[in-house]
Amino acid sequence: MPSLKAFNTFGVDVSASSIEVISKRSDLELFNYESVEDYFILGGGSNLLLTKDINKPVLKNEIKGKRIVQQSVAEVWVQIGGGENWHETVLWSLDQELAGLENLSLIPGTVGAAPIQNIGAYGVELQDVFYQLTAYDLMQKEVVTFSKEDCQFGYRSSYFKRPENKGRYFITHVTLKLSKAFSTVNTSYGAIENILNENQIDSPTARDVSEAVVEIRQSKLPDPTELGNSGSFFKNPIVAVEIFKGIQKIYEKVPSYPVSEGLVKIPAGWLIEQCGFKGKVYGETGSYAKQALIIVNYGKATGSEIYEHALRVQSSVKETFGIQLDCEVNII
Ligand code: EPU
Repeated sequence: MPSLKAFNTFGVDVSASSIEVISKRSDLELFNYESVEDYFILGGGSNLLLTKDINKPVLKNEIKGKRIVQQSVAEVWVQIGGGENWHETVLWSLDQELAGLENLSLIPGTVGAAPIQNIGAYGVELQDVFYQLTAYDLMQKEVVTFSKEDCQFGYRSSYFKRPENKGRYFITHVTLKLSKAFSTVNTSYGAIENILNENQIDSPTARDVSEAVVEIRQSKLPDPTELGNSGSFFKNPIVAVEIFKGIQKIYEKVPSYPVSEGLVKIPAGWLIEQCGFKGKVYGETGSYAKQALIIVNYGKATGSEIYEHALRVQSSVKETFGIQLDCEVNII
């Protein structure tokens, strides 16, 4: 049975019954699966914790291609194969002098996986640049196009994450709408502004912002090729203002972001740090020293050990703050 160690950024060593490389849509038409339980779709494996062997075929998205499909005076529509690497796509868009993806630089994973959890960072989410996607419905055996509305994007969520849709759609191509205004950028996130100021860049281009984001990520987030991880393990919880105020009475400096009337988001990394986990090592796993929201594999951790640590963190935050942290990573 082939190992999946090289196919998940946690670097967990489990196996699959086979790995089926999908390089074009017609490869998918050959399958006759009766249930979504009969196979497993894999993108970049960067948002995934494998706690057991996958005793079924793994369909690996290797559909490639990046092309401009349409243009207007101010905008350009680009269609990208679902198996393309996300960050290489960001760099390609910058080479075309197109803006829109710069804040999402250096996010591990593939283009096809990006809409599933509506990837986001530094003030931008995929939905801000998303136009449409095409997927192959492995149950109905047909090609389906999803508009932005169809995708029902939310904070690290979409239509594809709903239990009834999980695993059904193989995302073959994603179309993004990018901007020709290379110097119209979003620097609202404090750390980006700080770096641009330090480097004395007054009118940043999308490339400048991308370079700033790469610098921030490299300083805070572990490189999965050096230290196994899956980025943020949990979502930042959204809680009622009253709960937040209760915490604020005890912890004056609790950070927060307004979400909507009566609701605020609290950084899970902060909650986890208060519980004492930041930098704490448990055997081969633990919470990352520079960012408590990240769980790392120091080398030989099994998926179950990593999951056990996640549960430890989750119950401690629940006990201390009464807040339930939801996993951002898909646990298999
Ligand atoms: N914080 C701490 N201690 C920590 C970590 C964070 O106190 O150990 C507090 C600090 O107050 C900090 C705040 O949390 O100012 C926010 O931290 P950070 O800017 O690192 O962002 P985050 O909320 O922890 C989110 C995303 C990241 C994304 C960054 C930047 C989620 C679950 N995570 O993290 O996304 O890169 O914002 O926009 O929303 C990912 O999804 O895998 C991911 C890395």
